[in-house]
Amino acid sequence: MNSMPDKKIFIFDTTLRDGEQVPGCKLNTKEKIELALALEDLGVDIIEAGFPISSPGDFQSVEEICKVIKNATICALSRSVQKDIEVAGEALRKAKSGRIHTGIGTSDFHIKSKFNSNREDILARAIQAVKWARNYTDNVEFYAEDAGRTENDYLARVVEAVIAAGATTVNIPDTTGYCLPSQYGEKIAYLVNNVPNIDKAVISCHCHNDLGLATANSIAGVMNGARQIECTINGLGERAGNTSLEEVVMILKQHHALGYTTSIKTQQLNPLSRLVSDTMRMPVQPNKAIVGSNAFSHSSGIHQDGFLKDALTYEIISPDEVGADGSKIVLTARSGRSALAHRFHKLGYQYTRNDIDVLYAQFLNVADGKKEVNDEDLHALANEYQPVAETV
Ligand code: KIV
Ligand code: ZN
Repeated sequence: MNSMPDKKIFIFDTTLRDGEQVPGCKLNTKEKIELALALEDLGVDIIEAGFPISSPGDFQSVEEICKVIKNATICALSRSVQKDIEVAGEALRKAKSGRIHTGIGTSDFHIKSKFNSNREDILARAIQAVKWARNYTDNVEFYAEDAGRTENDYLARVVEAVIAAGATTVNIPDTTGYCLPSQYGEKIAYLVNNVPNIDKAVISCHCHNDLGLATANSIAGVMNGARQIECTINGLGERAGNTSLEEVVMILKQHHALGYTTSIKTQQLNPLSRLVSDTMRMPVQPNKAIVGSNAFSHSSGIHQDGFLKDALTYEIISPDEVGADGSKIVLTARSGRSALAHRFHKLGYQYTRNDIDVLYAQFLNVADGKKEVNDEDLHALANEYQPVAETV
């Protein structure tokens, strides 16, 4: 097992593989290289660069990424198929540090419906795949696809066997996003407690977001002994997506009392989110945690008043810490006097409380007619306004 401090969590980014599988997000080699360099800069430990057997273009992307990346480990995906593993090994030849990620479905859904097979055969194929991969590198990760719906005792047998065969990381994917955080956490704890050689490998969480639980499940995995999280920028990935990198990293940072650390330079999260969104032609939902355009916007009067008195009242993260543009006070019909006074002040107007009372009524008339009141609307209000005579 790796000799890093016990609570260092390895960030395994799969934006270029699971993220790129999203319809419309396909990248060419140049785009993949640009994003790989940005991910390395961000500080991710492992970059899953692609699935080399899937197409000549993806083989080339993985090969070219290996030539330029110096600090992160480059990972290539394969099935438990000899040719896949051979091609992944070939694509990784130039990597400073390369990892083959191989695996097979272990749930009965996969064993019966996908492979028309049985548990013993799948176990043998898993062991064989890891042995083939070890011919190319001693950094081998095994994934037990659909581990989320795999019975724990069988999963533990598979995990023990692949570690004995040479896997140094064992990936426990909740492929269908089925698990509750308590169930996923218990699964990881079960492996920690029931796989005799588990100390020879890093346990990895790979969670999908079909029920919106990918982030919560990954954190539950870590709290029960996993030391690697597989995630993507903006949570991109198959169907409802994967665990979002920015969310898990900021959860671990915010809850530093838990003692977990990552190597991510969090100030780069927003710029990289925008780069990924633009390059993959996939907009980020405005209310997305950490990187959505509304993540630091305050629009209701109660929130704005509290925020203007002390930002910590309504913000647990400073926008600077994640490279966001800054907090925004958005003026709508739900805004209050404090926000209006604040914005007039920023625009250079000096108004008394009485002025603001009068202006606020006029502001509400404008605000009721549109979604957001902008600076031009405020200048117009100010131009028409006759200041209230001060009463003594
Ligand atoms: O979701 C999944 O199970 C995967 C594996 C290929 C790791 O993406
Ligand atoms: Zn996946």
